[in-house]
Amino acid sequence: MKRIAVTTSGGDAPGMNATIRAVVRTGLDQGWEVFGVRHGYLGLCTDSMTPLEARDVGGIIQQGGTMLGSSRCPEFMTDEGRLKALRTLHQHDIDALVVIGGNGSQTGAHALSQMNYPVIGIASTIDNDLYGTEISIGVDTALNIALDAIDRLKVTASSHQRAFIVEVMGRDCGYLALMAGIAGGAEFVVIPEVETDPETMAAELRAAYGRGKAHALVVVAEGAQYNADKMSHYFAEHRGRLGFELRVTTLGHVQRGGSPGAFDRLLGTRLGAAAVEHLAQGEHGTLVGLVKGEIGATPLAEVVTGKKQLDLRLMELARVLAK
Ligand code: F6P
Repeated sequence: MKRIAVTTSGGDAPGMNATIRAVVRTGLDQGWEVFGVRHGYLGLCTDSMTPLEARDVGGIIQQGGTMLGSSRCPEFMTDEGRLKALRTLHQHDIDALVVIGGNGSQTGAHALSQMNYPVIGIASTIDNDLYGTEISIGVDTALNIALDAIDRLKVTASSHQRAFIVEVMGRDCGYLALMAGIAGGAEFVVIPEVETDPETMAAELRAAYGRGKAHALVVVAEGAQYNADKMSHYFAEHRGRLGFELRVTTLGHVQRGGSPGAFDRLLGTRLGAAAVEHLAQGEHGTLVGLVKGEIGATPLAEVVTGKKQLDLRLMELARVLAK
């Protein structure tokens, strides 16, 4: 092993920069050369990479986003695109690739690994829906951003005795919504994993007012069948069902753009260093993540076929705590 490359792919996540920094500096410490591939797999398809020295990754640990840029690259999903990517790696004599990203990115990493190229993945997505890690880079910061918004919305909701729906990210997974709902003291949580009828939500909110609450706050995941948009349309069409005013806030990408908190800086740093350590020991074809509280590795084949389960008992806890 003489030369490695690192890339960030898919949705950016706070802590990606801390991870790049760790891969670069621990890689250099091994005596290797380290290259950064720009914009994820797109940079491999278009041959866009640059050598990275220790100073090039200075001053980035506290920055959100990714200094390398990221993308979702449809070309890389084709055999032709993947062969192009491999050609780029071979042309630059790169011995191994580190892929920092979520589900789509690790599916790409697995494909390269199946083509006998040494790849190691690092778990990073704010959705926390990646099999092979208890928590991925960016989740904690995104959750804290959502909580800050929820805390503020509760203040204004109470002043006006209103109901608020806050939509948080989570395409297929309700982790952010459920955790933000519990930590933010929401009256109701709506997630993709549990079918929710708007009338059930209305009944819960009416009951909350009945118990003397001055506000009602609902956290919904963007991927839920009734997301914020559909929920508000439903109640616009069925006026009077709620019996009180409803306002909607969609947090969207605000959750992804924050400066990483201590947890994500440390997780990114530890996972970046672990990826380099694994490569130094000749291990690849795995994802590094947090397993039973420790840094661990899971075969990419397992990562792409496994489904991370949300602990749905927490939905019941959220309901009980909303009393
Ligand atoms: O993958 C994380 C995520 O933020 C999802 O929660 C969201 O659905 C998606 O990315 C948005 O993707 P994009 O930034 O490409 O619109």
